[in-house]
Amino acid sequence: MEYSVETYNLTKIFRTRVNGKERIVKAVDQVNIRVKRGEFFGLLGPNGAGKTTLIKILCTIILPTEGTAKVNGYDILKEPEKVRSSFGWFHGETGGRSLYWRLSAEDNLKFYAYLQNVPKSIAEKRIDALLEFFGLSKDRKKLVKEYSTGMKVRVMLARALLHNPPILFMDEPTIGLDTMSAIETRNLLRALSRDLGKTVIFTSHNMFEVEQLCERVAVMKNGKVIVDSSPSTLREMLRDIRAVEVEVRSPVDQNLITQKITGLSMVERVIEARNNPDSLSIRVQVEDEYEAIPHIAHKLHSVGVKILSIRKAEPTFEDIFMRLMRE
Ligand SMILES: Nc1ncnc2c1ncn2[C@@H]1O[C@H](COP(=O)(O)OP(=O)(O)OP(=O)(O)O)[C@@H](O)[C@H]1O
Ligand SMILES: [Mg+2]
Repeated sequence: MEYSVETYNLTKIFRTRVNGKERIVKAVDQVNIRVKRGEFFGLLGPNGAGKTTLIKILCTIILPTEGTAKVNGYDILKEPEKVRSSFGWFHGETGGRSLYWRLSAEDNLKFYAYLQNVPKSIAEKRIDALLEFFGLSKDRKKLVKEYSTGMKVRVMLARALLHNPPILFMDEPTIGLDTMSAIETRNLLRALSRDLGKTVIFTSHNMFEVEQLCERVAVMKNGKVIVDSSPSTLREMLRDIRAVEVEVRSPVDQNLITQKITGLSMVERVIEARNNPDSLSIRVQVEDEYEAIPHIAHKLHSVGVKILSIRKAEPTFEDIFMRLMRE
């Protein structure tokens, strides 16, 4: 069996009533994806694109309206039990609520192993191994409420692995984490994929981490998969994006600057403006950077803005994503 996940015209339509009016949402629309065994697969897309709904269908939490899927070779409609024993699931946002904070990490894991019907003799050894893998052996008796955020994430990941599933569904695992915990979580996910050979299906809004981690990326929009490729191909496909980065001294009127820059004919748009302690950085998409740089500099100088630097910038994954969303 070559694929961990295969979907066949997978579709989910939600019908809800808002003020007596029926509202129909195609949350997942004719999705056909294949995720290879051991692959690190990223699902990207703006809010409401359908990522979580797709994962919920694959986890057999909700049923599709049309189409079907196979997880670990098992049909989600015909063999849901086998599907359930094939994956571990982790949701960054609701994850915290899935542990008992007044129990130790070890007791949490014992309890969940019991719920998942892992035989006691196997459970004990596996819990030891997981606590070791996640660097929690020494703190195994500590109550989870005394754990740091990073440690809690590690217990939740351990929890998802109790029944030793080959597949992991990770829905925004790093959401709301501080930089250190996010880095730690990314390293662990990488290790799970690389060292333990797990297939990881991962959603995120952080382009940087998607580019760092994923071997393949599917971009969703309005329930449809609009792109399915490697991050490097995605980059290659959109090589013609040109960007300029300007840094100006604060305090400045951000709206005025944005307005002045977007008013220039060779500027396509302002991608983002970021406030630093003493400066404002603005990324601008342009047709030709060599043409645009002197014009932007001249314009800003003419309205009294102090320019600290202005240079050609490499397009980021985010620029690519923004462009895909517009097209
Ligand atoms: N239970 C539900 N009932 C009705 N509509 C729903 C339900 N769940 C999701 N939706 C709708 O389906 C669409 C897709 O939602 P989904 O949560 O899958 O998006 P997402 O890509 O995970 O977004 P986010 O990035 O915000 O997590 C949205 O329009 C959402 O409002
Ligand atoms: Mg979601």
